[in-house]
Amino acid sequence: MTKSILTIVGARPQIIKAAAFSRAIRKGSGAKIKEYLLHTGQHYDANMSRVFFEEMGIPQPDFQLSTGSGGHGRQTGSMLEAIENVLNDLRPDGLLVYGDTNSTLAGALAAAKMHIPVIHIEAGLRSFNKNMPEEINRICTDHTSTFLFAPTATAVKNLENEGFAFDGNKPVSIDNPLVKHTGDIMYDNSLYFASMAEEKSSVLEQNGLKKDGFLLCTIHRDFNTDNEERLQNIFSGLNEVCSVSGIPLVLPLHPRTRNRIEQSGRINVHKNIRIIEPVSFFDMIMLEKYCRMIITDSGGVQKEAYFFRKGCVVLRPETEWVEIMETGNGVLADADPQKILEGYRHFSAGHERNYPSIYGNGKAAEDISKTIRKHL
Ligand code: UD1
Ligand code: UDP
Repeated sequence: MTKSILTIVGARPQIIKAAAFSRAIRKGSGAKIKEYLLHTGQHYDANMSRVFFEEMGIPQPDFQLSTGSGGHGRQTGSMLEAIENVLNDLRPDGLLVYGDTNSTLAGALAAAKMHIPVIHIEAGLRSFNKNMPEEINRICTDHTSTFLFAPTATAVKNLENEGFAFDGNKPVSIDNPLVKHTGDIMYDNSLYFASMAEEKSSVLEQNGLKKDGFLLCTIHRDFNTDNEERLQNIFSGLNEVCSVSGIPLVLPLHPRTRNRIEQSGRINVHKNIRIIEPVSFFDMIMLEKYCRMIITDSGGVQKEAYFFRKGCVVLRPETEWVEIMETGNGVLADADPQKILEGYRHFSAGHERNYPSIYGNGKAAEDISKTIRKHL
């Protein structure tokens, strides 16, 4: 019998993640699963959304909401109501969500209250900092999920510490949720799309960038962008790094950060910092693969730094991707100019580094799809 799931996407990284899972679910054998896609419209600029569908061959959404930007309550509340309406009509056998955004939380809450099993990909991550909206979203989503697919061993441990203990003698249910360590679907994507990116992207040529001759940076966290002092400190650090390194620093800028810089008018930007529009995933892969080092507050970009074996200076006080720090491939610089510069110097020194395979074997999406076929 064919089962159906409704997958919720809304923010840039979820659209990218959907590429890996949609590929696996279309290909896999066993019980048939029909996937419907709902885009909440949380991200809506062409370079934050449409570009990924086109480039990565993701099926067009079956349901398109127009949520847009706004406070957490309005944004999450309007999605919750609209997703509930879709679920009422569609009655899928499961609802799948990625990560930790407001779109994730809205999907999980709507489905759990309607007794539709929630499938959470990227379950179990914790920063142990509840000032992050993402931490609240992750915890609520995990605790309303029936299937929890954890990308790392640490994520499984975090869930065990919160009382998750699957009983294999009982059926999988919201009261007996299945936790599975699968590896990271973003690793699947980076492997799958890396050669396509080499063929199709001309981002290096377009921006006059030499391989190993530039630094890459992204900034978008609310606590970095919405706090002017932190944003100034981050740019002080980046400006120092530019003076010392003498090479360009490429900054594909999230619209949130662009808005804040424009509103402030007091952020000094070094002449070697090249602010560009957000780029496509293929362009991002090329920038990550050929940069000298990455400086970021993004979750996804931290991991991609690891996949492409680049040192990563993290503009946060803590991270849920603790393995990157533990293996010596990342440093936490927070918004401290001195630590940002020290981080740059540390990874410039060219120490020998190891990259154990902590994110699986590039087949996480297949593993997830097999488990769903078996248990849903
Ligand atoms: C959201 C997620 C964050 C994730 C990030 C990925 C939440 C609470 N946060 O943060 O976890 O890491 O997406 O990028 O869900 N904007 C535009 N155009 C767009 C989208 C956003 O101009 O297409 C601007 C608007 O000014 C908006 C701001 O960016 O207010 C923030 O967007 P929002 O989706 O609320 O949060 P993100 O910072 O993108
Ligand atoms: N990304 C992209 N273009 C950009 C910046 C990021 O394609 O200009 C990709 C990046 O490669 C990663 C994902 O977007 O796969 C990360 O998303 P983001 O940093 O917005 O969110 P987070 O991962 O922190 O939730």
